[in-house]
Amino acid sequence: MSAALQGPRSALISTAQLVREPSSSLLKWRAQYGDPFLLPTLNGPVVFTGRPELVRQIFNAPAHFFAPFEPDAMAPVVGTGSLLSATGTAHRQQRRAIAPGLVGNAMPFWTRQIRALTQAQIAQAGAQIDPRATFMDAALEVVERLIFGAPDPEFSRLLRAMLSRIHPSFLFSTKRRLNPLYLHYARASKALDAALFARIKAAKARAQEPAMLSAMVHAKDPDGQDFFEAQQIRDQLRLLLIAGHETTATAQAWVAIHLAAHPQVQDQLRAELQAAPKPASKGLLAAVVDETLRRSPVVREVLREVAQPLVLGAHTLPVGTGVAASVWLAHNAACWGDPRAWRPERFLKGTLTPGSYFPFGGGARRCIGAALALTQLRVTTAEWLKQGRFVALEPLPVDAERHGVIFGPPACALGFERDRLG
Ligand code: HEM
Repeated sequence: MSAALQGPRSALISTAQLVREPSSSLLKWRAQYGDPFLLPTLNGPVVFTGRPELVRQIFNAPAHFFAPFEPDAMAPVVGTGSLLSATGTAHRQQRRAIAPGLVGNAMPFWTRQIRALTQAQIAQAGAQIDPRATFMDAALEVVERLIFGAPDPEFSRLLRAMLSRIHPSFLFSTKRRLNPLYLHYARASKALDAALFARIKAAKARAQEPAMLSAMVHAKDPDGQDFFEAQQIRDQLRLLLIAGHETTATAQAWVAIHLAAHPQVQDQLRAELQAAPKPASKGLLAAVVDETLRRSPVVREVLREVAQPLVLGAHTLPVGTGVAASVWLAHNAACWGDPRAWRPERFLKGTLTPGSYFPFGGGARRCIGAALALTQLRVTTAEWLKQGRFVALEPLPVDAERHGVIFGPPACALGFERDRLG
């Protein structure tokens, strides 16, 4: 690396701090070593930056400058045949094969689906909700509809059993074989696989239907051969199921928590929704969602591995270095002015500096589900607020905790106060 990058010395200590106190550790290292800084980790050295001009360099560099970061670390969860491990042309082709249900013109369909399922969920809800659990059910139903065409309760149970056994200790280190937590996880993972392969086989035996699994099993390459092998489909499905529901549900839980903590904003938004009931991509509803993803991002780092020497500011990063465009550092930069405050109005005035806000990552690997996630967050928020308001029953969480690979609020209870009818 040309100009020397500064950072802590011990890979063991910095990995432990990253697992246990990620929020404060990253801000502390930036204050101590500057931006970018070099962090030794058990997965190798990683350069962290949250500076907009460097983030832009990462996202604008041609795709062949990067390889996926430590695909082996995520292998126990999504295998090695998903988008996360694919590179170059194969990555582009796979994205194209998966994308149709997730692009802009599919959103009116999803708006109707999400509105109907949210209304059904509100009808069942009591005066008190556990926001993470409530929105997790809804988000899983959406992603199951996307993949299988309909919700699948037995499958949800197996997926939850697997997810609840994921532990960072075997994601941050590939030496997992002797880890008892990993062995516990592996049993639940095997049961999920059996269900996935059964569904893949059944979908293949039927004619093509309008669902992502069916599109994948029937996709052909230019020679008329199957585009995906069964194992690859398993891996893509695991990735989509996990990436597609925990993230959105966790962000939705934060939206509800921030609204309960800011009743004035909530009243203003409710008034706006009465005046213009359709969720819009502009206005306070969108700003509430955008500010929540800024203040409480569920994915904290966008990681790549350098595959060709990469110029990053005054540094040239050698092949093999990890590079993290840090959502957490960028969203907590001084340019936001009091970044820990939740203020949706930031998104109502002025324009953003490119590279300062990227909850969905960027470049060739930008989140493929971003449009669906934003639609879901806006429609779900609008539906709940059309029928009542979220209220604090106890001190509300402010800081996130780690849930596997994402970050979300600790368990808490929220009140839901319904409007009186008539
Ligand atoms: C609030 C919700 C969500 C957030 C914050 C989020 C965030 C992210 C981020 C930061 C990445 C990495 C991007 C990069 O490397 O540049 C990513 C990738 C991905 N996300 Fe999302 N995501 C969300 C919802 C979804 C949904 C709803 C789906 C699918 C139904 C999805 C599927 C994926 C997939 C498949 C990838 C890998 C893309 C690739 O490697 O080409 N995500 N997401």
